[in-house]
Amino acid sequence: MSECIKEECSAPTRGRTLDYAASIYDWLSPLMTFGHEKRMGQIALELLELKGHEKIIDIGCGTGSLTIEAGRKLSAEKGGSIVGVDAAAKMIMLARKKNVEIPQVRFDISAAEQLRYDDETFDFALSTFFFHHIDFELKKTVLNEMWRILKRGGKAVIVDIDTPTNIFGKICAWSGYILFRQEEIRENIKGKLREVMLSSKFGDFKFISSHLGYVSIFVLQKGF
Ligand SMILES: C[S@@+](CC[C@H](N)C(=O)[O-])C[C@H]1O[C@@H](n2cnc3c(N)ncnc32)[C@H](O)[C@@H]1O
Repeated sequence: MSECIKEECSAPTRGRTLDYAASIYDWLSPLMTFGHEKRMGQIALELLELKGHEKIIDIGCGTGSLTIEAGRKLSAEKGGSIVGVDAAAKMIMLARKKNVEIPQVRFDISAAEQLRYDDETFDFALSTFFFHHIDFELKKTVLNEMWRILKRGGKAVIVDIDTPTNIFGKICAWSGYILFRQEEIRENIKGKLREVMLSSKFGDFKFISSHLGYVSIFVLQKGF
């Protein structure tokens, strides 16, 4: 049954939503990334080279820490805004609570595979540690949704579990798979995220950097 809070319900999806972990997510996340998640988020934002006027979507935003961080770099006067979306109502409620003062930041409950935004709405799409929560078919659907809502020339930055590049990365990635019994993590370890990025409407991706031996940062661009 889907979680409902104050008459807002989690969006139906077969993705692995985190309503059950919302209250502990902000201290769990640094544990899972050995405190590196902020740095990786920072790199993702630097790749966007924000001027302040951009429209951004953060997909699978969780409790919204990176969404808010990005929102601070935008200016409402210049028309800049960011929307964080997550299928888990509890995540979105916590994100809204955190964002007390930034008008250009908004949070919506939505399944990433069924976004309700018009074609070519956003300059940038961000997604950190989300793609290992959805299966192969959904990965493709979500990438094609990201492509649809991006403006021509718009970019997507994806940070996620990828094929491990060293022993430490192998231990971390496979431990995650065993601990959570999450097939979607195994797919990423086996290179399926890269495969689906190539077969999506983006048709290509740029590998930017590897972190901790199991997390990669990618940039995808919608052609003109
Ligand atoms: C590991 S968290 C990442 C949160 C945040 N981006 C971060 O970097 O900390 C993955 C998030 O994806 C959400 N999620 C899972 N399936 C989803 C779907 N189909 N649509 C939208 N969000 C989904 C979960 O509820 C969870 O909040």
